[in-house]
Amino acid sequence: MTALLSVQSLGIRFGAVRAVNDVSFSAKPGEVLSIIGPNGAGKTTLFNMISGVYQPSQGRIRFDGADVTELLPHQLAERGLSRTFQNLQIFHQMTALENVMAGRHLMERRGILSDLFGLSTTRRHNRETKQAAEALLERVGLADIAHREAGGLSYGMLKRLEIARALACLPQLLLLDEPAAGCNPVETEEVEGLIAQIAHEGVGILLVEHDMKMVMRISSHIVVLDHGEKLAEGRPEEVRGNPRVLAAYLGVTEGEEETADALD
Ligand SMILES: Nc1ncnc2c1ncn2[C@@H]1O[C@H](COP(=O)(O)OP(=O)(O)O)[C@@H](O)[C@H]1O
Ligand SMILES: [Mg+2]
Repeated sequence: MTALLSVQSLGIRFGAVRAVNDVSFSAKPGEVLSIIGPNGAGKTTLFNMISGVYQPSQGRIRFDGADVTELLPHQLAERGLSRTFQNLQIFHQMTALENVMAGRHLMERRGILSDLFGLSTTRRHNRETKQAAEALLERVGLADIAHREAGGLSYGMLKRLEIARALACLPQLLLLDEPAAGCNPVETEEVEGLIAQIAHEGVGILLVEHDMKMVMRISSHIVVLDHGEKLAEGRPEEVRGNPRVLAAYLGVTEGEEETADALD
């Protein structure tokens, strides 16, 4: 199968800091590719480059057969690359449904011209957008709270709402930055099931997640970052047994010990 995404020698500097350096890998449709590494390894920065939030200082990004290195986030969303954020980016004063519809409108920007041809088209669009958003809420298990204000939802619900919103632009590739962070064990299991299902439907997933048990279960392939560089990659069982990976996790401070334990 040809790659859906390939990053070649990707890197970025912030002043003197090389946050990501010379990282290459590729991702396929229907697979979960996880990016792991200690805090500060460069995982979120890598996501920011792939999703067009940061412009890389070196390297290229190819997506769906085209070079997309220079594209902006909304241009990538239109092409089918969407993401969620480690720090949620939900509109708290809007309802759950409206939040998902906002994600859908991102994709429908190209439909603005056709809207000029008449109100009836606009109305039909809005109705379709609403139905699609309702279906997505159903899919992430939030149909019951569609009309509740997002600000009043539990953290676990918000994490799933963000996934629904990212799915609204019908991605071929979905980037999930710590989708289970702050979730309780039940919510974590729900998130894991949802990710597996999305991948099963053929969407490529790039996952950053601290829950190593989930990562080892769900990933087709894992890329390990340390200090901005690719330390290792392979199938979960290969990565788990790699002494360099264990050393990277064990070499860091107390807060990370839990993660190292979870690698066993
Ligand atoms: N906008 C920025 N300006 C300066 N340094 C940054 C910026 N974004 C990230 N960094 C630095 O890049 C490194 C990697 O951070 P990050 O990608 O957030 O790591 P991770 O997600 O793996 O925990 C860190 O040293 C961080 O301080
Ligand atoms: Mg991060």
